[in-house]
Amino acid sequence: MAQEYKFVDHQYDVVVVGAGGAGLRATLGMSAANLKTACITKVFPTRSHTVAAQGGIGAALNNMEDGDDWKYHFYDTVKGSDWLGDQDAIEYMCKNAIPAVIELEHLGVPFSRTPEGKIYQRSFGGHTIRHGESMAKRACAAADRTGHAILHTLYQQCLKHQAQFFIEYFALDLIMNENGACCGVVAWSLDDGKIHRFQAHQVIIATGGYGRTFFSCTSAHTCTGDGNAMVLRAGLPLQDMEFIQFHPTGIYGAGCLITEGARGEGGYLTNSNGEKFMERYAPHAKDLASRDVTSRAVTLEILEGRGVGENKDHVYLHLEHLDPKIIHERLPGITETAKIFAGVDVTQEPIPVLPTVHYNMGGIPTNHFAEVISSSKETVVPGLMAIGEAACVSVHGANRLGTNSLLDLIVFGRAAAHRTAELVPPNTPHAPLKKSDGVQAIERFDRLRHAQGKYKASEIRLSMQRTMQTHCGVFRNKEHLSEGQRKLEDILDSLKEIQINDRSLIWNTDLMEALELENLLQQSMVTIASALNRQESRGAHAREDYPNRNDKKKPNHTLSWLSGKKVKLDNRLVHLHTLTDDVKPIPLAQRVY
Ligand code: FUM
Repeated sequence: MAQEYKFVDHQYDVVVVGAGGAGLRATLGMSAANLKTACITKVFPTRSHTVAAQGGIGAALNNMEDGDDWKYHFYDTVKGSDWLGDQDAIEYMCKNAIPAVIELEHLGVPFSRTPEGKIYQRSFGGHTIRHGESMAKRACAAADRTGHAILHTLYQQCLKHQAQFFIEYFALDLIMNENGACCGVVAWSLDDGKIHRFQAHQVIIATGGYGRTFFSCTSAHTCTGDGNAMVLRAGLPLQDMEFIQFHPTGIYGAGCLITEGARGEGGYLTNSNGEKFMERYAPHAKDLASRDVTSRAVTLEILEGRGVGENKDHVYLHLEHLDPKIIHERLPGITETAKIFAGVDVTQEPIPVLPTVHYNMGGIPTNHFAEVISSSKETVVPGLMAIGEAACVSVHGANRLGTNSLLDLIVFGRAAAHRTAELVPPNTPHAPLKKSDGVQAIERFDRLRHAQGKYKASEIRLSMQRTMQTHCGVFRNKEHLSEGQRKLEDILDSLKEIQINDRSLIWNTDLMEALELENLLQQSMVTIASALNRQESRGAHAREDYPNRNDKKKPNHTLSWLSGKKVKLDNRLVHLHTLTDDVKPIPLAQRVY
């Protein structure tokens, strides 16, 4: 290894990679349990993508006295997942939602309030009382800036507990030992160009989703799924990568999110006939049907010629009938976004919207303790955990309900801290690292750093994003997916011909973009292969050639490994049992809203 790459070595009990809601909640819990904890992050913590979460965090607090109960939340989440979620993990999440949100309130999250001073809760898609009898008010909201409020509070709490942050460090790869355990992570400090090896008894991946594989998404440019790709390169599988959530209301042309909370406050969608078309697709829940149902409805309206605008390629979201006082108090963020990105005053005109990639249900397979599992037999990978959007617990199955993402971050960030505190006594000595540990990461880094090919990272990225958008969208079929797969193989080949112009080590954004691109491409490969392999329609995965859910086969998760261009696939049975006798499993049923 070249002298310029002399490693800077660190030893910690725990290393958390990523400082969004999940990473910070875990870091806080670990630090509070006296574990020597480092949190490494490629962006300043309060710039993590959680900051963009808008409408709320789900918990059946029953503050609005609608008769809510965590068991209804459990039912809605199982149904929302189209029976692909693991019911034991869903029970864990919905039950623990209540203490986890109250804990956030006590930590100082500035939630909006009811006149009595309780946390304000609003309606969200797919959340109901008594299994669909009426819509629940379950989303605990801080206006429409809930993620912002949570992220800032958690960062302040981490500082209070003296957690150590390594900010603007880009994680390159995991360090795995000969027994298949994870014992650390290699990271590049963007600020001074040094390469660091962080040794830890527990590495926790909290690096978020990989929305940027698509051309139009609500995700930040930083959402490149770096942890998922590190897991693939460590020879471990990802799970359920075919399930990509499209949010029904991204701003047309810009992709920015307009919260589902807007419909929770009474907003509705119309087509070019001025028709409230959701009434046809979801007679009970209407505009508050689950996201997969609503996104498909919008797409069908457009495909059938009832889109609005010059090209009839989007629909309208109306808020102008709402009291401006409510809009000002509860939806200030999207009011501003609509003005900036669509030039619309929401009190006067509708917002032009379109389904936009929003969330990855798939990710690193874990159990409900946040421990990574590596096979259909659910073997735990020692020393490795994953949480948040990077993980697939699986509580969202084939389709996530709105507000369950912030919840997943907090509940499983907390669970990871509890489990680690059980497993790792503070200051446990480390076995020495080998000289060769981390060298593979450097070889990959150096190959890209010195690349002299003919394609810019931005060109390769655009081809990948357009391919994913066209061939792996809301509706899919074999022909389209296969063509997309062939294109992606060629695009992956073109990565060998990438051109890097900056060879420096300090804040080399050219190189960082190339590293992120490789991560995105590796995830695209397993995503499209998994989508091709799943011959049924379920949740967000709508196959035109297999329009129904396959209930003849037991529900299965897809596991996918990547080696070069080759994707290997396997299955893992969905957990149809619950964790305790507090709640009964929900038997498979038709999914209507
Ligand atoms: O619509 C929204 O506010 C998004 C929430 C979520 O994805 O959970």
